[in-house]
Amino acid sequence: MDCSLILHLALILICASQGLCQYEGYDYDTDYEPDPDVHYRPSIHFHHTVDYNVPNVPYATDCARECYCPPSSIVTMYCDNRKLKTIPQIPSRIQQLYLQHNEIEGVDRKSFINATSLREINLSYNKLKSNRIDSGVFATSPHLHQIILNNNDLEEIPSPISSSVERIFLGSNKINKVREQDLQGLVNVTMLDLCNNHIDNIKGKALSKMTRLMQLNICNNKLISVPASLPTSLMYLSLENNSISKIPDDYFAKLTNLTAIRMSHNKIDEVPLYMFNLPKLMELNLGHNKLKRIFYIPRSLEHLYLHDNEFETINITLMCPVMDQTHRLTYLRVDQNRLKGPVSTLAFLCFPHIQSIYYGEQKRSAGDSQTHLIPSYPLPDVARYAEDDDDDDDFPQYHREEHGPIVEEVDNEDEDDFQDYY
Ligand SMILES: *[C@@H]1O[C@H](CO)[C@@H](O)[C@H](O)[C@H]1NC(C)=O
Ligand SMILES: *[C@@H]1O[C@H](CO)[C@@H](O)[C@H](O)[C@H]1NC(C)=O
Ligand SMILES: *[C@@H]1O[C@H](CO)[C@@H](O)[C@H](O)[C@H]1NC(C)=O
Ligand SMILES: *[C@@H]1O[C@H](CO)[C@@H](O)[C@H](O)[C@H]1NC(C)=O
Ligand SMILES: *[C@@H]1O[C@H](CO)[C@@H](O)[C@H](O)[C@H]1NC(C)=O
Ligand SMILES: *[C@@H]1O[C@H](CO)[C@@H](O)[C@H](O)[C@H]1NC(C)=O
Repeated sequence: MDCSLILHLALILICASQGLCQYEGYDYDTDYEPDPDVHYRPSIHFHHTVDYNVPNVPYATDCARECYCPPSSIVTMYCDNRKLKTIPQIPSRIQQLYLQHNEIEGVDRKSFINATSLREINLSYNKLKSNRIDSGVFATSPHLHQIILNNNDLEEIPSPISSSVERIFLGSNKINKVREQDLQGLVNVTMLDLCNNHIDNIKGKALSKMTRLMQLNICNNKLISVPASLPTSLMYLSLENNSISKIPDDYFAKLTNLTAIRMSHNKIDEVPLYMFNLPKLMELNLGHNKLKRIFYIPRSLEHLYLHDNEFETINITLMCPVMDQTHRLTYLRVDQNRLKGPVSTLAFLCFPHIQSIYYGEQKRSAGDSQTHLIPSYPLPDVARYAEDDDDDDDFPQYHREEHGPIVEEVDNEDEDDFQDYY
């Protein structure tokens, strides 16, 4: 026996006793050519008492031919960027399945039938069509946690989905409605992303049973009214760029865990005075609407965006009826309104933490010959973070320790950013 064969045998033994690696998946002759002169030191250690909860056999032979099963993880299969048109055979041990960036249009009834360990499926950037997906294909994996279906051609939510699911990504599809049954039984969902679709209608109580939902993104759709019956667990709500003109008076009343509300680029012309009286609200973005009258600002609010509305004046007494200096507002953006002068200096009594009020340029009113340019507070170099039009970004991250003057803008459009909130 030559030296390298002994090494191979030793490795196989280690693998088998560990139940951890996929040494056999390698083609010995091409991929694995250890230098026989180098003393082999396995970097893995024996822990005979550890139960890895996986069968003690070498797996490699069951990796789908089109895919790659890395030796470092027996539960992951990479099949991304391979021009695949169908879902490969999935060994039952696989927990993470990466199928993004392929040309898959359909999923048949049998595709996931053996994949009972699946926790995460990434099928983003394929060509999935609703009429090519058999009913129930995403409901056969009892441990499914995350399903990533963004950037496909789906016209409907592919229901049912396993009731174990916690994060659902359906952005950038062609979904035009959310039916009541689509999200039925999904009690563990914390994050639902439906941005960049064609949704004009969310039926009745479709969302109300998701009692753990923390983040709901329905930006860039065609909603003309706010979705009804949001669960009280909600913390981040993104409804930017729809056609919402009215918010019912008591809409947010029970949503006391809301931390951020983004509703810029809608058609809202009025909100009741105490609509946003929410104890944990830190960010409120109502830029690019049609508001004329200001409203009460909760003490917790730090960033308020009111740019591109119809304000002629901003009445501080309405924002802050009791000047007890407990308001935490640090940033107020009011450019592109119809203001003729700076807001009252009462603002500084009300909002002792204010770092910046950004006036930018104001819109011309009819009969008004000049654009009003109001000096910002403080002077422009500190107001620099209003430079970019930022309201289209993802939610800023709230895990910072102190309330610095700069709004942490996340510039990146990756879907992953949404996970930063957990
Ligand atoms: C499921 O497993 C059975 C038994 O191992 C096998 O015959 C069948 O081809 C598998 N089906 C799929 C779609 O992987
Ligand atoms: C899923 O695939 C997309 C596209 O490549 C990628 O951006 C994303 O990070 C993947 N998500 C996860 C959770 O791996
Ligand atoms: C929801 O999550 C809880 C705890 O994380 C778990 O015990 C329960 O089985 C899950 N429900 C479903 C339907 O999977
Ligand atoms: C609003 O959404 C539409 C698609 O519904 C998109 O074309 C447009 O670019 C979005 N506008 C903004 C400001 O994001
Ligand atoms: C609101 O948040 C708190 C603290 O994170 C949590 O304990 C509570 O369950 C949440 N409320 C609801 C209705 O989910
Ligand atoms: C602000 O609103 C209050 C309450 O409506 C009103 O009494 C007050 O005169 C207003 N202040 C200004 C400066 O318009």
